[in-house]
Order: sequence, then structure tokens, then C-alpha cells
Amino acid sequence: MATPVTVAVTGAAGQIGYSLLFRLASGETFGPDRPVRLKLLDLPIPEVLRACEGVAMELSDCGFPTLLDIEVTADPNVAFDGVNWAILVGAKPRSKGMERGDLIRENGPIFTGQGRALARGAADVRAMVVGNPCNTNCLIAAANCDGVPGDRFSAMTRLDQNRAVAQLAAKAGVTNAEISHVTIWGNHSATQYPDFENARIGGQPVSSVIKDADWLQGDFIKTVQQRGAAIIAARGKSSAASAASSAIDHVMSFEAKTPAGQWFSAAVRSDGSYGVPEGLYFSFPVRSDGAGGYEIVQGLQMSDWAKGKLQATVDELISEREVVSDLLG
Ligand code: NAD
Ligand code: LMR
Repeated sequence: MATPVTVAVTGAAGQIGYSLLFRLASGETFGPDRPVRLKLLDLPIPEVLRACEGVAMELSDCGFPTLLDIEVTADPNVAFDGVNWAILVGAKPRSKGMERGDLIRENGPIFTGQGRALARGAADVRAMVVGNPCNTNCLIAAANCDGVPGDRFSAMTRLDQNRAVAQLAAKAGVTNAEISHVTIWGNHSATQYPDFENARIGGQPVSSVIKDADWLQGDFIKTVQQRGAAIIAARGKSSAASAASSAIDHVMSFEAKTPAGQWFSAAVRSDGSYGVPEGLYFSFPVRSDGAGGYEIVQGLQMSDWAKGKLQATVDELISEREVVSDLLG
């Protein structure tokens, strides 16, 4: 058996937690030979912790050969002690009529304390933020996590990538498997730019297969940008199973070496690539080396129209950063 991986999940009593934890434990994410230790963190409220205990009981009842142990705690210092992955889900979801950015002052402070707890406990950690607004929460956590490099933090835009893949496949009348090279640029918000100019369908440029430019520049982008709100309108609750599934994709993509010529989307610390101000957590095309490192894919071409979209999401992230400037350590 390989060295165990220790994974903390915050918001473990919540709806994403319930879809996520079983797939982390089962061997699907880290492989059938990698033992998994799970740490479940939620709020210090008796009924919430009782719900976490119930989830832990169910995890135990699955009898996964890969699951070594499960700890339930309300103390971030306990949860993050010695973790290799910290999956920061615990935060309030938006409700109907809200934008994700409306949560910023409510959820932002969660990530100052969690950033500090990560700094104390985690020598070799990768932290991913799911709780919204996830790019700026990630910025807050990283800024409060002295000693852990900013490139160990990322935020999830993989759900947006997966949504874009499904929309392109449906429009082209092909399977999801034929869609590749989709990039989400920027914020996990209604300003994100789902890039079809560099995406491919069956290896061909999207515009050579989908000849409806109005749809690509209009309904396609709007549908992906607004999909979270559409799910809330339909379900009365924000996306959960699709979010958990995309979180698994995110972790697996960082754990594996990205196949040559491919990439995936994740919000990572900008190093100034594509003119995005350094330090923002911005969704880019990313390639992992499978050994703890990654690079932002360089050289993608963009039309002037696409550059305008990129700038809009940069501007939004700059204004979110201003709103939380007091939380940045
Ligand atoms: P939920 O309300 O079902 O669960 C959230 C859980 O977090 C609750 O159990 C709550 O007690 C816990 N929590 C709150 N504050 C905490 C803290 N300080 N420490 C630990 N736990 C805490 O919500 P959900 O549907 O699971 O969604 C969680 C977050 O994920 C929301 O902010 C939602 O908007 C976001 N989300 C992001 C994406 C994405 O693509 N990035 C997708 C879906 C949802
Ligand atoms: C999503 O994209 O489904 C989540 O970020 C939830 C939301 O508020 O849209």
C-alpha cells in the first residue's frame, strides 16, 4: 500500500460534503492502493456535529478498503493538522436572487481563521476552495496562511468547465468525450469567460463545427455563467452533486500528470500571465506535472472580443479584493 493521504473537508455536514466524502474515501480519487484518512470539519453546533457523526457512520458502513480512519471535529486546528488536501467547502450558499459575490462579507471571514489554522498544521498541503465566492475566499485563505506558498491554493472553476463541455456537446450533437481544450477564464461568477475560441470538438476548432457565432457569443456564454442560478431556481438549493463531482475532477487533475497537449481549468494564483494582475486567484488553463507542481498554459490566442471578456472578469476580481482588503492579513 502507498503512503496514506490525509484529507480535510470543511462543511462536512452540508449537501456538497455528502456527495463528496464517499468518493474521496472509495479509492476513486486517490487510487485503489492509496489509504485515505478523512477529517470532517463543521461548525461547533451540537446538531451539526451530530449530522457529521452520521456521515462518518455511513462512510464506515461502506467498508471501503482504502478508508483508514475518520475524525469529526469543530476545531480547524485539529482538522488541518497534517493534511495533504484541505477541501474548503464550508460556507453559506447563495439563495435565489443573490449573486455569489453577495456572500463575500458573510463567508470571507471564515477563510482568515482557516488560513491561519492551515499555516499551523499543514506542512505539505494543497488547499482548494469551493465555498463562494470561491476565488476571493481562496485569496483570503492564502493571504492568512504564512509559510505555505500561494501556489498550493486553488479555487474551483471545474464545474463551469464541465458545464461548458456539456453545452457545446449538446449543441454540436456529439458526446461530451469529443469536447476538449475548454478553458474558463477568471471568476466563478457571472463574469467568467468560457472560452470556445481555443476549445475543440473532435479535434476541430469549435467554430468549424458550430457555425452559429451568435449562439457561441451569446446563449452559450450566458448559460454557463448563469447555470448556478438556474440550478437554484429549479431545485431551490444550489448545485451539490455536480459540484462534488467537479471537486473530485479538480483534485484528480492536480494529482495526475496532465496528458501532453491538454489542460484543465482551475483558479490559481496569477503570476501576471495574460496580463492578469499578479496575486489574484484567477481561472486559467492549467497543466499539472503530477508531482505537486503545475504551470499556467501559455500562448493561447484570443480575439479582441475575448480580451474584453477577460478584462471584465479581472475588473470584478479586483473589486472583490478591495471589498475584503481588511481580511488579507
Ligand atoms: P450547505 O449549506 O449544504 O453546507 C454548508 C456547510 O458548511 C454546513 O454544514 C455549515 O454548517 C458548514 N459551515 C459553515 N461555516 C463553516 C465554518 N466556518 N467551518 C466549517 N463549516 C462551516 O452548502 P453547500 O450546498 O454544501 O455549499 C457550500 C458552499 O459551496 C456554498 O458557499 C456554495 O455557494 C459553494 N458552491 C461552490 C461551487 C463552485 O463551483 N465553486 C459549486 C456549488 C456550491
Ligand atoms: C454553482 O455554480 O452552482 C455554485 O457556485 C452555486 C451558486 O451559487 O451558483
